[in-house]
Amino acid sequence: MAVATNISLLSDMFLSTPLFFTITTCATIVAAASPPACQSIAPPQQTINIQTSNVTLNYTPFGIVYARKDILFVGAGHNVALLNTSTFPPSLINTLPTPFGTEPFAVNGLAISRDKRILYLSSGPGAIVVDVEKAIAGGAGSIVDYLDGTVGNSSIERHFPFTVNTHLHHTRNWSVSNTYVGYIELDLSVVGTALSPDGKRLYATSENVLNSISSTGTCNISATGTLSVLDVEILKTNPSEALLATVDAGCGPVRVAVSHDGKLVWVTARESNMLLAFDATKLELNSSDALVASVQVGTSPVGVVLVNGGRHIITADSNRFGYKNTTTGLTVVDIEAALKGEQGFPRIPTGLFPREFVLSPDGKTLLLSDYASNMVQAVNVSQLTLN
Ligand SMILES: *[C@@H]1O[C@H](CO)[C@@H](O)[C@H](O)[C@H]1NC(C)=O
Ligand SMILES: *[C@@H]1O[C@H](CO)[C@@H](O)[C@H](O)[C@H]1NC(C)=O
Ligand SMILES: *[C@@H]1O[C@H](CO)[C@@H](O)[C@H](O)[C@H]1NC(C)=O
Ligand SMILES: *[C@@H]1O[C@H](CO)[C@@H](O)[C@H](O)[C@H]1NC(C)=O
Ligand SMILES: *[C@@H]1O[C@H](CO)[C@@H](O)[C@H](O)[C@H]1NC(C)=O
Ligand SMILES: *[C@@H]1O[C@H](CO)[C@@H](O)[C@H](O)[C@H]1NC(C)=O
Ligand SMILES: *[C@@H]1O[C@H](CO)[C@@H](O)[C@H](O)[C@H]1NC(C)=O
Ligand SMILES: *[C@@H]1O[C@H](CO)[C@@H](O)[C@H](O)[C@H]1NC(C)=O
Repeated sequence: MAVATNISLLSDMFLSTPLFFTITTCATIVAAASPPACQSIAPPQQTINIQTSNVTLNYTPFGIVYARKDILFVGAGHNVALLNTSTFPPSLINTLPTPFGTEPFAVNGLAISRDKRILYLSSGPGAIVVDVEKAIAGGAGSIVDYLDGTVGNSSIERHFPFTVNTHLHHTRNWSVSNTYVGYIELDLSVVGTALSPDGKRLYATSENVLNSISSTGTCNISATGTLSVLDVEILKTNPSEALLATVDAGCGPVRVAVSHDGKLVWVTARESNMLLAFDATKLELNSSDALVASVQVGTSPVGVVLVNGGRHIITADSNRFGYKNTTTGLTVVDIEAALKGEQGFPRIPTGLFPREFVLSPDGKTLLLSDYASNMVQAVNVSQLTLN
């Protein structure tokens, strides 16, 4: 029951094969919501001073993934930047332009195959496919394909109702085949997805819910959004049947992370300034008591990442709407304390619009893209366990 509207690709992909694209169309699912309050600016937080440093790029950094323990790829404007992570902070090795070079083809989210040989740059209505070894070797011939979405153009700012497309790819010789499988309609603006540790579930956030569409095509949307649970096996073959449950997830939920044991699903509710924890078992039963913790964080949290073996969870408090009298930062949440209902967690200062995270393979350094400061920031998270 999709309704035609201004369609656009959403750009966060965190998955290995198969590749799930988020694109948009008007959806018809309307959740029964009793909205948690939205909040403009978060209360002030104490600052923790731990070692952080940054490397400046020439372009706005967004998605960020490790190809090897010493090489990081960063989506940066219409380029992909390669960074050497053997130093703190990393150093810039090279910047490879993508073939399109103009709007709407900025490089947004990145995803890398499990074998680390193929990198996907979310861009335009689909993804640019990059041969990792060729990119490291200097870039010649590294752009091997473009997986085309079916509708719309990329724009993180113009997203609207939503669907997930699944594309299957990979042949044995690492060339790419691009097979359109189908899509599932969810609530609006799906920007965050995460797999369960066993790969059987895909969690997806929707920023808003569609209340109604007027005769002229205007969508009336809620301030609150949802978290959906999808069955990955069904999603691969028969996507429209894959939805297991959808629950309310605060104002503007945008990213999701799953605990290492798969039991908790964490969501940043950007317009609530909250980090929400859901019990995965109850969530799958679509139970109204699945929400087990609501943690106040900084202003407009986006990225979320578990660090220190799951002892801490960190949010990227973006202040992306540029509110006055507040700041950006990383809220460091002690998980055990948060699950007991504690509040008042401190923050680490950042540049402007901290957005996406990646943890180093040894777990000691957290890297993040400070989108509006054109820099990648390194944070020595091993220092958080010293007290
Ligand atoms: C990364 O930097 C280290 C130290 O400067 C250097 O030894 C190494 O060769 C560099 N690696 C790459 C892939 O550039
Ligand atoms: C997508 O962008 C291209 C290039 O700017 C443009 O030609 C095309 O019409 C756009 N498609 C949609 C659906 O907006
Ligand atoms: C890669 O494998 C596919 C499927 O087996 C085949 O069609 C294609 O020609 C091969 N490409 C190369 C470059 O060997
Ligand atoms: C949008 O929908 C909500 C919920 O149905 C309703 O209360 C509100 O009046 C609508 N707003 C507009 C501008 O139509
Ligand atoms: C989940 O529960 C809500 C609220 O009771 C309901 O509106 C929705 O249809 C349910 N979703 C699924 C997938 O069962
Ligand atoms: C700024 O925030 C502080 C701390 O919440 C508050 O005391 C102060 O009144 C605010 N200033 C303005 C101008 O809103
Ligand atoms: C980034 O690093 C430079 C050089 O160390 C430093 O001068 C600057 O203050 C840092 N910027 C931020 C926003 O942390
Ligand atoms: C990170 O902090 C730990 C603890 O203070 C320290 O031992 C280590 O050298 C630091 N890492 C870097 C890259 O400086």
